[in-house]
Amino acid sequence: MAPRCYQCWFVLLAAVLVLLAAEPGAVGLPAQVSDPTVCIADGINSTAQYRHTVRLGRYFLPIYTTVNLSKPVTVDNILIIQHGAGGEANNFFCDAVAGTSSLNSTAVIAPYFGNETVLQKDWLVGSASNRTSLFWNATRWNQGAASLNAPNISSFDALDALLHLVTRCPNRTCAKQVTVAGFSAGGQTVQRYAWASSYGAANSTRRVQVKFVVSDPGTYLYFDTQRPKSSCRPRQDTGPSWSCSSFGDYMPFASACPAFNDYKLGLNNLNTSSPYFTRLVGSPAAMSAAYLAKNILYVLGEADVCNCLSSGVTNPAVCFRANQSCSPVGNGNNASCCDMPAPQPINAMVDIACGDMLQGSNRLQRGLLFMSYLKTFSNGSASPQFTTVPGMGHDASKLYSVQKFLNFVSSL
Ligand SMILES: *[C@@H]1O[C@H](CO)[C@@H](O)[C@H](O)[C@H]1NC(C)=O
Ligand SMILES: *[C@@H]1O[C@H](CO)[C@@H](O)[C@H](O)[C@H]1NC(C)=O
Ligand SMILES: *[C@@H]1O[C@H](CO)[C@@H](O)[C@H](O)[C@H]1NC(C)=O
Ligand SMILES: *[C@@H]1O[C@H](CO)[C@@H](O)[C@H](O)[C@H]1NC(C)=O
Ligand SMILES: *[C@@H]1O[C@H](CO)[C@@H](O)[C@H](O)[C@H]1NC(C)=O
Ligand SMILES: *[C@@H]1O[C@H](CO)[C@@H](O)[C@H](O)[C@H]1NC(C)=O
Ligand SMILES: *[C@@H]1O[C@H](CO)[C@@H](O)[C@H](O)[C@H]1NC(C)=O
Ligand SMILES: *[C@@H]1O[C@H](CO)[C@@H](O)[C@H](O)[C@H]1NC(C)=O
Ligand SMILES: *[C@@H]1O[C@H](CO)[C@@H](O)[C@H](O)[C@H]1NC(C)=O
Ligand SMILES: *[C@@H]1O[C@H](CO)[C@@H](O)[C@H](O)[C@H]1NC(C)=O
Ligand SMILES: *[C@@H]1O[C@H](CO)[C@@H](O)[C@H](O)[C@H]1NC(C)=O
Ligand SMILES: *[C@@H]1O[C@H](CO)[C@@H](O)[C@H](O)[C@H]1NC(C)=O
Repeated sequence: MAPRCYQCWFVLLAAVLVLLAAEPGAVGLPAQVSDPTVCIADGINSTAQYRHTVRLGRYFLPIYTTVNLSKPVTVDNILIIQHGAGGEANNFFCDAVAGTSSLNSTAVIAPYFGNETVLQKDWLVGSASNRTSLFWNATRWNQGAASLNAPNISSFDALDALLHLVTRCPNRTCAKQVTVAGFSAGGQTVQRYAWASSYGAANSTRRVQVKFVVSDPGTYLYFDTQRPKSSCRPRQDTGPSWSCSSFGDYMPFASACPAFNDYKLGLNNLNTSSPYFTRLVGSPAAMSAAYLAKNILYVLGEADVCNCLSSGVTNPAVCFRANQSCSPVGNGNNASCCDMPAPQPINAMVDIACGDMLQGSNRLQRGLLFMSYLKTFSNGSASPQFTTVPGMGHDASKLYSVQKFLNFVSSL
């Protein structure tokens, strides 16, 4: 008589479920990019076929792409979408694929800036290579930091390598334009990269135009020591029409906030922050001038107004969710005051160090103050392109409902 084994069925069932849930090649991938369920709503059952690599020395940057980058790209428009602090590259990729499906001749590429390495054989189906990916300390890719395994290679080098690949133009056959877009920590990455990189220069002679979208970053790179005066940054939601004409040099007050102008918030300590900066050819002043002339669209969520961690902040109702609690909770704030709207992971992540708070008290206010700053810094000559989006909280997927964003990606 065969031994009875009731548990065996459960073990077998569990094994089958695990196999069904795992994407081909997903074994060994970090949880951030191996969850197959995040793309189903976008009509994508598996992202395995979209995985590709960008080689940098002995290492590689993992990317998702809808176009075969082993040959020159021939679609008109390329959207590179940079994920946020959660490393959720597959989620960002799938949302972008679904969100741009109505656009003609538009490809989507999403790089993965990981906090742990990925082996090439795990990333690419059918590969046997032990080559490892670049990876970063927490989210320090958002400021061009060096990869932990390749001290010479910054996240900005990785973006340069990706842009080099997609802007090749053999026989004058190539894309017309590339939009490098980022949301949240990805928005921080793109804003700083737009300053640091030579891509997108207004006087560029490259055939393929490069432009940038910065959406809802936690903080911005300022180009001098001016900051909005306190009257410009009340600790509350100041709405979508906020602007500021009162900037001043904060240096005389720096003892209250000594790191306020250190990179990534300002231009102090560039060389010790990234190997990319030690190789710059232009002066910081020339780069700031070049930044002002680049084609950059800022997309700001009108409901991205929560700051649940700082003391003395009055948060509007949109920041409170009755059946949810947030972590971390600080400064006596109500545990249901959340930085991100449901169903996003419950979090309270807006940066709140003193240098961050000098840029404004929440993401919408910081964005609008930076728009004012660009005008002040340029003595009125710059008029940044931006749009505020009604109802958009800290939610990257809302980008694809913004017609101005879709037009920017697909129109020259
Ligand atoms: C995804 O999987 C579902 C269920 O297995 C199937 O009906 C659908 O056709 C698949 N879609 C694609 C794009 O493969
Ligand atoms: C991509 O293009 C290369 C070079 O033409 C080709 O060898 C390869 O099979 C293509 N890959 C896919 C997935 O189509
Ligand atoms: C990487 O980031 C994810 C998402 O934030 C986190 O859950 C994970 O613990 C991190 N891993 C390491 C090694 O820090
Ligand atoms: C796509 O191209 C077709 C044919 O040229 C044109 O009619 C249509 O308006 C285009 N759609 C978009 C979203 O650009
Ligand atoms: C990969 O690493 C393993 C363990 O070190 C080794 O046995 C194997 O030969 C390596 N494979 C390749 C293709 O280098
Ligand atoms: C990671 O970043 C933290 C915070 O900036 C720093 O203290 C730490 O030394 C870094 N670790 C490595 C391995 O670079
Ligand atoms: C970094 O790059 C420089 C210049 O290319 C090179 O001389 C040096 O060996 C590199 N260092 C490392 C650690 O790769
Ligand atoms: C460029 O065109 C020439 C002549 O038609 C052809 O031989 C060559 O393969 C083309 N190169 C690429 C990269 O397409
Ligand atoms: C573009 O302008 C910068 C700064 O003025 C200058 O250094 C660079 O040589 C110019 N490039 C071209 C291709 O004209
Ligand atoms: C940063 O490094 C570059 C190259 O080594 C050097 O030319 C430049 O003077 C340095 N800047 C500062 C502020 O030390
Ligand atoms: C929280 O409440 C809202 C509104 O009642 C509901 O739509 C949502 O599903 C609830 N979320 C959770 C996690 O229970
Ligand atoms: C948190 O704030 C909400 C909305 O103001 C309120 O309804 C709730 O009672 C508060 N909870 C606590 C524990 O203070």
